Amino acid sequence: MKSLEELRELRSKVQKDLEMRSNSERPKIIIGMGTCGIAAGARKILKAVMKEIDKRGLDVIVTQTGCIGMCEKEPLLDVKMPGKDRVTYGNLTPADVKMIIVEHVINGNVVEDLAIARFDEGGN
Ligand code: FES
Repeated sequence: MKSLEELRELRSKVQKDLEMRSNSERPKIIIGMGTCGIAAGARKILKAVMKEIDKRGLDVIVTQTGCIGMCEKEPLLDVKMPGKDRVTYGNLTPADVKMIIVEHVINGNVVEDLAIARFDEGGN
């Protein structure tokens, strides 16, 4: 059993790590890989993301998430640019991925036609 002091230290370390991650200077792409995401073609979306990033030599963090409760909008992908809102895109095709990467990740413009939600994650 850890002492209270050890637990406090651990908590502050975890908090610092979380802050560092959320203030990451690198763009982040998060792909919904829940059951319905995969059924709707999320694997193809993940492949398209990796292909575009490789082709363009981009420094982007790619992560996966599980169910986010928007089955009918799958496949889903979120873009989180440093210091900006997290934007969710839905009903995606691999061709959409290319547009999102060029417009949003490279040029910094949200693709309004494909965006379905925005979350302020304290990055403003
Ligand atoms: S698995 Fe997609 S919303 Fe639940």
